[in-house]
Amino acid sequence: MATPTAEASKRLHRRVLLGVSGGIAAYKSATLVRELVKAGCEVQVVMTPAAHDFVTPLTLATLSKRPVLTDLFVRDGSGRWNDHVHLARWADVLVIAPATANTLAHMAQGLCDNLLMACILSATCPVLVAPAMDLEMWKQPANTRNLDLLKERGVHTVGPSSGELASGLVGEGRMSEPAEIVSALHDLLMGASRLNGRRILISAGPTQEAIDPVRYITNRSTGKMGFALAEEAALRGAVVELVAGPVSLQVDRPGITRTDVVSAAEMASACKTLAPDQDIVIMTAAVADHRPRHAAPEKIKKGQGLPQLELEPTEDILATLSTTRPAGQMVVGFALESEKALEHGRAKLERKKLDLLVLNSIADEGAGFGHDTNKVTFLRPDKDPEELPLMSKAAVARAILDRIEELL
Ligand code: CTP
Repeated sequence: MATPTAEASKRLHRRVLLGVSGGIAAYKSATLVRELVKAGCEVQVVMTPAAHDFVTPLTLATLSKRPVLTDLFVRDGSGRWNDHVHLARWADVLVIAPATANTLAHMAQGLCDNLLMACILSATCPVLVAPAMDLEMWKQPANTRNLDLLKERGVHTVGPSSGELASGLVGEGRMSEPAEIVSALHDLLMGASRLNGRRILISAGPTQEAIDPVRYITNRSTGKMGFALAEEAALRGAVVELVAGPVSLQVDRPGITRTDVVSAAEMASACKTLAPDQDIVIMTAAVADHRPRHAAPEKIKKGQGLPQLELEPTEDILATLSTTRPAGQMVVGFALESEKALEHGRAKLERKKLDLLVLNSIADEGAGFGHDTNKVTFLRPDKDPEELPLMSKAAVARAILDRIEELL
């Protein structure tokens, strides 16, 4: 299996709310926005009013491709306001860079006199600050105390570094370089995920096999499990190709490219095109096993009598992908059984030559189609089955990716 490249290994795929406060280091914020965008993040910049004196909102808006926000209230007579609670909930992480002595003091006191402070007070996600100030300010006991207080409350810090300062003094107080901030963010969010930078193909949802222009054969599936896996894989830094059958789910996480398909043949074609470039393939889709040999070109009318449907098998996409896989690629399948689950699951694992089979039994309460929970058993070659309790689909997704990481 290919090792992630240095570029790919910095994939972050997070929604970053970047707070820029008013210090000379704000000129580096432009580069920071670029680095974050390059790492696959969506960046929403919130500036304090003082930051406008150091860097223009236009620069940061252009680089982040989003309007920069500063005010709690939009003073155009419209009565609109920037919803700090929504912004804070949108963000996966808050980064304050530069964090001036004034901003750190505000944070330590829980003051809330501008939009950035309101966002910080509303945030439940991790917060990373990159302090930047002159040497004497940095050494001030008041500043040291503020920072200690913030660290005690779980705020993460990066820098400052030592060097020449804007005042001409030499010492500690320089904001960390943008690449160092991205690296610190990476360590904070990713830990040591082995999926970081890996390419993963995930199929999800059902397929529809046309009988006529209005009717089709399908399987019961909402796609929730596949979408939860895609989301979690992207959060771990994977570059995800999501091939989705007809589902009503949305995905807006950076790092996921979605291809929508309808039939098993379309799903097979999309998966076969994408699979050769992947490190891991996970087939969660409930692909229809049979399709009408001939779809009627016009709607079949009741008056035409009872239609006779001649069916033909669809391609077993998982089996094809598994047997034609490039060296080192991991292939994971799902199985839904209604009886003799372990026996049938084990047979599928061997027949399709899988590295991991995730077995669902529809006999289990709260598991299977439509539910937000699932109860699965992992089957691996030469290993005893591992039965998991009933969990949310997000937790099952984490458990599956944990196993995949172990196997990498
Ligand atoms: N699958 C596939 N292509 C198909 C049918 C299934 O890729 N035409 C994949 C599913 O995405 C899943 C796995 O195969 O990962 C198991 O699907 P399942 O329907 O449980 O098994 P089948 O191989 O169809 O076997 P059976 O009908 O005997 O249960």
